[in-house]
Amino acid sequence: MQPIDKRTEEIQAEFAKVFDGSPTHVAIAPGRVNLIGEHTDYNDGFVLPVALDRDVRVIFRPRNDRRVRLYALEFDTWADFDLDALAFDEEVFWANYTMGVAWALEEAGVKLRGLEGVVSGNIPRGSGLSSSAGLEISNALALLAAAGKSEALTGPQIAQAAQRAENHFVGVNCGIMDQFISTLGEEGYALLIDCRSLDYQRVPFPDGASLVIGNTKASRSLANSAYNERRAQCEEGVARLQSALPEITALRDVTSAQLEAHKGLLSPIVYRRCRHVVGENERVMGTVAALAAGDLEEVGRLMNASHESLRDDYEVSSEALDAMVAAMRSALGCLGARLTGAGFGGCAVALVRKGQERAVRDAIFENYSKSMNIWPEVYTSPASAGARLFSLE
Ligand code: GLA
Repeated sequence: MQPIDKRTEEIQAEFAKVFDGSPTHVAIAPGRVNLIGEHTDYNDGFVLPVALDRDVRVIFRPRNDRRVRLYALEFDTWADFDLDALAFDEEVFWANYTMGVAWALEEAGVKLRGLEGVVSGNIPRGSGLSSSAGLEISNALALLAAAGKSEALTGPQIAQAAQRAENHFVGVNCGIMDQFISTLGEEGYALLIDCRSLDYQRVPFPDGASLVIGNTKASRSLANSAYNERRAQCEEGVARLQSALPEITALRDVTSAQLEAHKGLLSPIVYRRCRHVVGENERVMGTVAALAAGDLEEVGRLMNASHESLRDDYEVSSEALDAMVAAMRSALGCLGARLTGAGFGGCAVALVRKGQERAVRDAIFENYSKSMNIWPEVYTSPASAGARLFSLE
């Protein structure tokens, strides 16, 4: 049992207004921020995200049939469908995440049952903090629990099913990072995830530092098409490098030295895309080593280098993200700052010396709003727990 907190109680009260009777469970799944390892997950590489203290929750009870009825509090719309008649919903877009997850869980061999409930979230939407992964994973836990199948899949399998839902049902070609950390995050830890084997390792979040997240509030138009284009460029890089390095199957297998030796095989753009991915994998490993050694300056330096590489080689930054990163770095106590997530807009993350969060926050409001004429949002979050299910009975 968990102590039922205020937010759960409020959503429970909404449940009582919408349905007769009481819910049986709450499923909770967080958003994420990535410390380092950007655009590496779909190259079979390494990432180092943390789960946030913001989440999506579903307060629900099982049904005896195969109907799913979920009411989204913030949208005031319904996902209302039969598990035997799944079809893309053009009107209620978020319903496709629920349907997609149901589809992928059944594809994975789990026979589901219906449920009814209320969905509510406090992860900023469309901001690169994975509100969609929070929605997918909370829905997955709810659907599994309603069917009495909470133990049917492992955490990594649940994350994979949610990724498949997003790739094949919703139509967004994301990697595995967001779903994985939302499912398996742990309080006080970042996770080093090997996106090829799906092995992972807990990396203690340093005591002397905090995360400050700056939301640019700038639109992320083009993000989807540019993301797919970057993926295709990475694949092209692998295909061309294979003529000299037949053993490689992904950029994960290529070292910086190999890339330099064979750069003549690649167009200048594809070379730069590959240089980002290869260097970023090395920076993830460098960050894990620096954290183990307690060297926060080195972690900050690697985060800064990651941003520069994303901006210049991978070209997924934006004027707003660069302004946010500059504002963060202008503050005393900022160890390093970089864009986080896919890029093009959304959020940047700063690693900040403990006690200096306020200075970084003030610098963001002062300098970012001046250079962009946009009022940003700023969040702090400890490294938090991944997805969980609680009984309400
Ligand atoms: C998005 C995707 C992830 C990952 C990042 C970039 O968040 O959902 O899978 O590719 O972009 O690192």
